[in-house]
Amino acid sequence: MHIRFQSAAEAAAPRLLAFVVARDKLPAGIERAVIEGAAAARFSGKTGQLFEGFVERGGQVVRLALAGAGPANGDDEAGGSALERAGAALAARYLTSGEATLTLDAGASGLDAKGLASVLLGLRLRAWRYDAYRTRLKDEQKVSLKDVVVLDAPEGAEAAWQAAAALADGVEFTRELVTEPANVIYPESFVERCLKRFEGTGAELSFLDEDEMRKLGMGALLGVAQGSARKPRLLVIKWLGGEAGGKPTVFVGKGVTFDTGGISIKPAAGMEDMKWDMGGAGAVAGAMLAFAGRKARANVIGICGLVENMPDGNAQRPGDVVTTLSGQTVEVINTDAEGRLVLCDALTWAQREFKPAALIDLATLTGAMIIALGHEHGGLFSNNDGLADDLLAAGKASGDKLWRFPLSPAYDKLIDSPIADMKNVGPRWAGSITAAQYLQRFVEGSTPWAHLDIAGMVWADKPGATWDKGATGFGVRLIDGYVRAKLES
Ligand code: BES
Ligand code: MN
Ligand code: ZN
Repeated sequence: MHIRFQSAAEAAAPRLLAFVVARDKLPAGIERAVIEGAAAARFSGKTGQLFEGFVERGGQVVRLALAGAGPANGDDEAGGSALERAGAALAARYLTSGEATLTLDAGASGLDAKGLASVLLGLRLRAWRYDAYRTRLKDEQKVSLKDVVVLDAPEGAEAAWQAAAALADGVEFTRELVTEPANVIYPESFVERCLKRFEGTGAELSFLDEDEMRKLGMGALLGVAQGSARKPRLLVIKWLGGEAGGKPTVFVGKGVTFDTGGISIKPAAGMEDMKWDMGGAGAVAGAMLAFAGRKARANVIGICGLVENMPDGNAQRPGDVVTTLSGQTVEVINTDAEGRLVLCDALTWAQREFKPAALIDLATLTGAMIIALGHEHGGLFSNNDGLADDLLAAGKASGDKLWRFPLSPAYDKLIDSPIADMKNVGPRWAGSITAAQYLQRFVEGSTPWAHLDIAGMVWADKPGATWDKGATGFGVRLIDGYVRAKLES
């Protein structure tokens, strides 16, 4: 979607003219029929409400749209997220409406630069979809909305939108990676897609291949990869926009491009969902794209542990013992608990290579997380209260919400193994916590570390505030908000 700014004088007479309205406050100069129509339809400007009416102006029929961004009764949620939802409501309504251009009257909507950027961000994020493989769409199913023209934008609006647009680019890239099927996005092609997308951004990309990982001793990651015909990759994306020589904040993503479970194979029903088992890596790549796009003044590094978990004659077996890069050994009780095996080697390598100021991993790690939190919060686990609080705050502010869970030696004991240093699964209970305990065994010294289990957040079965059903892009806005608040202010 193309978004541009114009003055009312230079713009063509709009065909579809939209306003964002606060609760019980319609913009001035609206025709009586629309005012009375809105009242009759019980439109009051509540967040997410939309009303449209047709009027005649200067001999032309104009479609007027009113998008609500005011709090509902007894609800104090207004501000940025309400404005995003107003923009999202416009996108949802007009994306395939037949209208090609939506004109947004920012002046009459009383939006400041930040508020306008919120509306446009919501509009763009809700308008994203991926029709690359839909070759038989009927005309009325195709996206018609191509342009958004903003009238009378306030001072500073274009700069505010530029930063928000970089964030939208990041979220969209994550959604694309997550949406692509596993025959298209596998470790090597994930890297290729990133190399292409990051061209000209100034970010620095590199990767480790199988031989390099073997030489280093990443036995856990390679154990997962060995059952697949696809070669594993460890992708590194660097954006060093902060103080020269300053310690970086490192994000590590689980990138299992398909998770069959391996020899501990998953049931057939719903297995197709496991194409999005790379959602953590996808979020890391998308966030890095946003940082580069908006030239973030921070030193940030993204690492994606990319493997495919398949069963074949060479696959690892339950009971196998692998040696991790850290030197610790792991008894692989269940080959379906593969995410932690990939992450542990990536975490060790990240710490040795970069001495991070903070280390944050994102992973679709456990089904148990979805049982605990559903699709409303990601799970947060951390060895550092300050880091945990900062992430919780970034979650609230960005809409990518988190909820903290405990860690303790009593949980840690549950993954002791009789034959190796640890096993890769605990008992049935507290499955998300024992997964986090496993990862914590690979945190070195006092490195501030947080683990985000986003299994329930990467994919949606129904449309949400600023996404359609499908890939949500969860995590990008969270990380971006965290970096903005902690490293850039
Ligand atoms: N990728 C899955 C977790 C998952 C399940 C994410 C459903 C999203 C939806 C992970 O690799 C896995 O299989 N975890 C197992 C762990 C178990 C074997 C201890 C699980 O959650 O069942
Ligand atoms: Mn698994
Ligand atoms: Zn998995």
